[in-house]
Amino acid sequence: MTDAQNKQGHRQLEKGKLIVASHNAGKVREIRDLLAPFGIEPISAGELGLPEPEETGTTFQANAELKALAAAKAANLPALADDSGLAVEILKGAPGIYSARWAGPQKDFSLAMEEVEKAIREAGAHDRSAHFVCGLALAWPDGHVEYFEGTVDGTIIWPPRGDRGFGYDPIFQPLRRLETFAEIEPNEKHAMSHRAHAFRKLTGACFGQ
Ligand code: IMP
Repeated sequence: MTDAQNKQGHRQLEKGKLIVASHNAGKVREIRDLLAPFGIEPISAGELGLPEPEETGTTFQANAELKALAAAKAANLPALADDSGLAVEILKGAPGIYSARWAGPQKDFSLAMEEVEKAIREAGAHDRSAHFVCGLALAWPDGHVEYFEGTVDGTIIWPPRGDRGFGYDPIFQPLRRLETFAEIEPNEKHAMSHRAHAFRKLTGACFGQ
């Protein structure tokens, strides 16, 4: 029964097909790795040719929920969406929900990283702390949604280092590490990232039994 709930009132996800409502190959790869142990068969929205809804929300939660709901309704299957981004403290949380948009239509993250560095310098550069945020929404075709959020704290470094990962990974050095996310081995990053923290909350609540 898809509407079974656990004691905390969270709806339980059954084993089987799950739409991963993302067109970002880096994220889909990371989400597939995280879902692998749970008997879930992830299918990406891109593979199914589902349209990508416009991210009109003003929070990570609103954007994750609208993406998950659109995919769940279009495919008539449960769907998982992630809305994530980099929040720099001295920039009052920017680029935040606009993290992808700072890379422009060409999705040029070298440019986006330069913009972040420039903005930090213009703001005085006395604080380089930042965190990644990941909002995860799990939606069902009947409109039910579960939402969880995870974060990871770190520092913005310059110049960028490393060629693994994606997006802002080369300028993000997580706390207590000397390497950037783009220098850390992917499995290790996947275990410590904002997405991993949000996933642990999600799997604890919705993949319980
Ligand atoms: P959206 O969630 O599709 O709006 O895009 C979020 C953007 O945030 C991505 O395109 C990346 O630029 C950035 N981002 C999110 N998670 C990560 C990460 O783990 N590493 C690097 N950049 C990330």
